[in-house]
Amino acid sequence: MSLLSQWVKIMIKKIKGTNDIVEDAYIWEWVENKFKNVAKRFGFSEIRTPIFEATELFDRGVGKETDIVQKEMYTFEDKGGRTITLRPEGTAPVMRAFIEHGMTSKGLPQKFFYVGPMFRYERPQAGRLRQFHQYGIELIGSPLPIADVYTILVAIESLKAVGLENFKLKINSTGCEKCRPKYREALREYYKPLLPKLCDDCQTRYEKNVLRLLDCKRDAEYAKSAPNILDYLCDDCKTHFGELKRLLDSLGIEYEVDPSIVRGLDYYTRTVFEIKYPSLGAQDAIIGGGRYDNLVEELGGAPTPSVGFAGGMERIILALKNEKKIPPFRGVDLYIVAVGDEQRAEVLKMAEKLSSELKVDVDLMGRKIKSQFKNASKEMARYTLIVGEDEVKTGLYTLKNMSDGTQTKLPIDEIVKTVKS
Ligand code: HAM
Repeated sequence: MSLLSQWVKIMIKKIKGTNDIVEDAYIWEWVENKFKNVAKRFGFSEIRTPIFEATELFDRGVGKETDIVQKEMYTFEDKGGRTITLRPEGTAPVMRAFIEHGMTSKGLPQKFFYVGPMFRYERPQAGRLRQFHQYGIELIGSPLPIADVYTILVAIESLKAVGLENFKLKINSTGCEKCRPKYREALREYYKPLLPKLCDDCQTRYEKNVLRLLDCKRDAEYAKSAPNILDYLCDDCKTHFGELKRLLDSLGIEYEVDPSIVRGLDYYTRTVFEIKYPSLGAQDAIIGGGRYDNLVEELGGAPTPSVGFAGGMERIILALKNEKKIPPFRGVDLYIVAVGDEQRAEVLKMAEKLSSELKVDVDLMGRKIKSQFKNASKEMARYTLIVGEDEVKTGLYTLKNMSDGTQTKLPIDEIVKTVKS
């Protein structure tokens, strides 16, 4: 230890672009449970992949020329000299696991959901973090538009399950390897005379990833008159997109076709979609997804057309706060109050017994009765239970409803029933 650090303990702070989830933790738990339930209701099961992977997975999967791989990955060498990357997204890892475990043999489609942290070195701002969290699903193995619609349906049902309303679904088709080269050519032609006016990023993208020029926020003006990808789709892609729209219509799902949606990851083919929440401002995409028919093959597996989406938990929670849809915080069901120190052991016994049925809490700071009650209401306990000498003798305990102040004397079984009701 240096001399200075022996004298001055410098406060260590969280890393820029990360968050401590403390007071909002109950909101996160609530949203995650809702989302997981929706995914399960539609036949998806959970998958948990590692938080770090071989860097090559994302180079190959997400695409070497994407912003994510070029600028945003947390990549480091581990002590064994391997190049490791903190996962910037969940699709490539799920597909890696799918191939590695030979899951095709279990029959197709395979349907997975996940919730967890992702890492991207982006400029932090409201709704954009360096460690953020995604909820996502991957439907592996079906080439049919019905799989795309099923995926979109799960996305929408997830948002509805938490009560969100003012979101907008935007869809597009990015074609396939047959029709996309012609479209790329047309885009290059269109942007060529505009090149000197484009931002630095777009100048580089022009050569390497011309489709991304369409969703540049700075050069959005030029994108408006750019050739429309939908005019360049081959017959198969046209039919696929037509069927997707027909199925969405038959479900009454509202959408807007937006040819500027191209997505920032290279693996997409045909359907791409985003769910926007306009009042979030610049970071208004709360869900993004689409079809990725070549990814499994790209990663060394057999051709396995697939589709999925991921939603940003932070942005969805911001949207919920915007709509005032957050349920109020609920403290424990029962705060057990000791009348005098001699009752502390009895209070612990009661806590042990009741905690199998209810959420309980007790005073651990040696507080007097009055301040135990104060503490119970600060912690938003719904009920308090008073344990004094009389109560222990008679087996009848005073239960106080903290919202209306009413008190009743009850035996232990009745306490559970009353609090639960
Ligand atoms: P993505 O569009 O890159 O897609 O991310 C999905 C969602 O994650 C975004 O719509 C946004 O809500 C959230 N998100 C992305 N970056 C950040 C950030 N820096 N801070 C906060 N939230 C962020 C994917 O990741 C694909 N893997 C989705 C997918 C799954 N496609 C097919 N299957």
